[in-house]
Amino acid sequence: MNKLRYSSSSTCLVVLIHITVFLVPNLSYAEGFDSLLELRPQSGSTRIRPRSKRVLFLGEFGAQGDGLRDDTKAFRDTWELACSFSGRTRIVLPAGNTFLIHPIDIAGPCQSKITLQICGTVVAPEDPGAWHGLNPHKWLYFHGVNHLTIEGGGAINGMGQEWWARSCKTNSTNPCKHAPTAITFHRCKYLNVKNFLVVNSQQMHMAFTKCRRVAASNLKVVAPAHSPNTDGIHISASKGVVVKDSIIRTGDDCISIVSNSSHIRISNIICGPGHGISIGSLGKSNSWSQVQHVMVDGAFLSNTKNGLRIKTWQGGSGFASEISFQNVVMENVSNPIIIDQYYCDSRVPCANQTLAVKVENVSFMRIRGTSATEEAIKFECSDHSPCEGLYLEDIQLVSYSGGITRSLCWEAYGFSSGFVDPPACFSCSESCIKQKVLLDPALHPF
Ligand SMILES: *[C@@H]1O[C@H](CO)[C@@H](O)[C@H](O)[C@H]1NC(C)=O
Ligand SMILES: *[C@@H]1O[C@H](CO)[C@@H](O)[C@H](O)[C@H]1NC(C)=O
Ligand SMILES: *[C@@H]1O[C@H](CO)[C@@H](O)[C@H](O)[C@H]1NC(C)=O
Ligand SMILES: *[C@@H]1O[C@H](CO)[C@@H](O)[C@H](O)[C@H]1NC(C)=O
Ligand SMILES: *[C@@H]1O[C@H](CO)[C@@H](O)[C@H](O)[C@H]1NC(C)=O
Repeated sequence: MNKLRYSSSSTCLVVLIHITVFLVPNLSYAEGFDSLLELRPQSGSTRIRPRSKRVLFLGEFGAQGDGLRDDTKAFRDTWELACSFSGRTRIVLPAGNTFLIHPIDIAGPCQSKITLQICGTVVAPEDPGAWHGLNPHKWLYFHGVNHLTIEGGGAINGMGQEWWARSCKTNSTNPCKHAPTAITFHRCKYLNVKNFLVVNSQQMHMAFTKCRRVAASNLKVVAPAHSPNTDGIHISASKGVVVKDSIIRTGDDCISIVSNSSHIRISNIICGPGHGISIGSLGKSNSWSQVQHVMVDGAFLSNTKNGLRIKTWQGGSGFASEISFQNVVMENVSNPIIIDQYYCDSRVPCANQTLAVKVENVSFMRIRGTSATEEAIKFECSDHSPCEGLYLEDIQLVSYSGGITRSLCWEAYGFSSGFVDPPACFSCSESCIKQKVLLDPALHPF
């Protein structure tokens, strides 16, 4: 019989990261960008006071916490007991311990509102062989869970090195195979993830799929620039998601928003290295997709392959619309502003098709900084379904190396207002929509 310890306090220390991305008018680029970032640990450390009396420590369920012995069963047993209680329950993974957890499905809904307090470290098996016979997409897989909080200042480490070495993107003689997403939340509701580290995932770091009402904040997500497909935060088919005050440095998109997601707000993000903040890819394999009501407000991107991007495949359908990117600072970013309707991430070239995801009503406002390439603004839209309702306001993207910058437009319709450098290259006919996208900035997930 498992021994339970009831405790009214726990000894987990956390350091909160607070990020403020300032947009300074008439910024002098010679001064560098470090002054734009303010990283401030809040009053040293804070002792967490549990709101509930019921606290379960993983060690009480047989976990060793030595990083060598398998703690998966202890974790599952703790979760199942916590899930069966009513009221609030806290599961603690204490600091100073490393818990080796094999691929695990963590199911809800639960009677209780659970807080998973990760103060120590959770590690994945290093050897991809541990997934033999299991779903290669999953490591920590939460599904159907409502009212879950994850916090604690600890770390989740995907130990992805061996997976990256075996990727076909690392070595083209390798077969292309799926690799796990470190933490997936599927069909979740009222989720609050904050204040921990996710590092070296096998593939994507954190994914929300078919979720409603999610708040993610004070996260630090880190993997090497060369690690393949290691998106930071991936949002798919979800509605009502806020991601804020986080640092993301990985080998792929810092944040990607795909398939039928809406009411997404991203703010105060530090991104890079990585591929930037992306909407898409959308429309792969002739699929229909709708991404609407997305606001990116406050980001600092440095040395990323792209800055703010919308990417769609030929042959798809649906919409990417009502999107606003604002208050963004870039440093040496290769494609600072880009809409790419000819996206093709496959070994064989993609043929042009008549169908395309319609890109409409997209605003870029107050975007400044340096571009690593000459084409600082690129709108490469579909021949058959042009981009409409594009809007640029207060843009200053100069060359990182001191050359010139320019805009490139293909089938792009819109207009600009205020200072825009490089100047916009849109066409705008009689029917052109002249408006900026104004979204309600006060999206609170719950
Ligand atoms: C790619 O893998 C093949 C077969 O395993 C190996 O012979 C080759 O040296 C690898 N190439 C690189 C660049 O690592
Ligand atoms: C988006 O939703 C529509 C309608 O529910 C569905 O047909 C389509 O497959 C979804 N697209 C994606 C990419 O999930
Ligand atoms: C700027 O970006 C370019 C292109 O990605 C890269 O080659 C170069 O090393 C970067 N410069 C610095 C100082 O990081
Ligand atoms: C697809 O269309 C674009 C725009 O018209 C053109 O630049 C590109 O060369 C075409 N690609 C192929 C593979 O035909
Ligand atoms: C784009 O904005 C126009 C003008 O407000 C609106 O009529 C149209 O429905 C919008 N497009 C989409 C796809 O929401």
